[in-house]
Amino acid sequence: MSARPGAAEPAPGALLETVRTVVSLRARVLDWRIGGQTIGLVPTMGALHDGHLALVRAAQARCDRVIATIFVNPAQFGPTEDFDAYPRAEETDAAKLRSHKTDLLFAPGVGEIYPAGFATTVHVAGVSEGLCGGHRPGHFDGVSTVVSKLLLQALPDVAFFGEKDYQQLQVIKRVTADMDIPVEIAGVPTVREADGLALSSRNVYLDPRQREIAPGLYRELVALGAAIERGESVGATIAGARRRLVDSGFDRVEYLELRDARSLAPVADASGPARLLAAAWLGRTRLIDNIAVGA
Ligand code: PAF
Repeated sequence: MSARPGAAEPAPGALLETVRTVVSLRARVLDWRIGGQTIGLVPTMGALHDGHLALVRAAQARCDRVIATIFVNPAQFGPTEDFDAYPRAEETDAAKLRSHKTDLLFAPGVGEIYPAGFATTVHVAGVSEGLCGGHRPGHFDGVSTVVSKLLLQALPDVAFFGEKDYQQLQVIKRVTADMDIPVEIAGVPTVREADGLALSSRNVYLDPRQREIAPGLYRELVALGAAIERGESVGATIAGARRRLVDSGFDRVEYLELRDARSLAPVADASGPARLLAAAWLGRTRLIDNIAVGA
């Protein structure tokens, strides 16, 4: 039996059904709900890679229908960040989604998400502080605001987010629970290149030299995690890893920290479930990555 009862096969060559308004999104969702189907949501900013497609596959494994969203959210970019340069490729993205049998693309314009008079910001305390939140002021307010809206607009059963943006995943779990949004938030493991580099839409910014250096971030995280699990001093091993990253060609290590896996509070050992999280710069490209450590 198909894992997706009632999900019709698209006709060969058919385009992916795309809606741009909340009204048409909700009409489609209502049809499926009347038919008793479950719905998975995959929010993205486009420039899709295999990490996004893994989210689509995870959604298909659990839900009858899968909606992907593409919206480059201006509210989560700082004034000096890459909003204008952020890769946009809706046609290619739609082709990828279609070949992965996604049922619907929601690709709203900025005016649909933030109409004139829009005046609400969702702020999550605690988990959104420090790490990326400390270095990108306002970033998680933008993420929390848009994700709350997308969840309420589509009201799926489950929404899928990559663990590569681990702090983002914890922020989204928090806001969903705190605001009683009736959607399960599912984390999906990071997809990596063969050399360990975490897939990211921003990897296209790396020049060939930087691309060679980049997997060092994951290698250091793995070595550091093993050292911490052996009981070595967290402070000393982190200091060593930061030095090695810079020696290997990274321009700057923004943060490299051990945190509690759920609350993201700083921890001094891995006696409970912990997460090593890092952000480092190669030229003008900021890479982030994280791994699980401990129990
Ligand atoms: O991870 C992303 O692509 C974005 O932050 C998200 C969750 C789609 C919100 O804009």
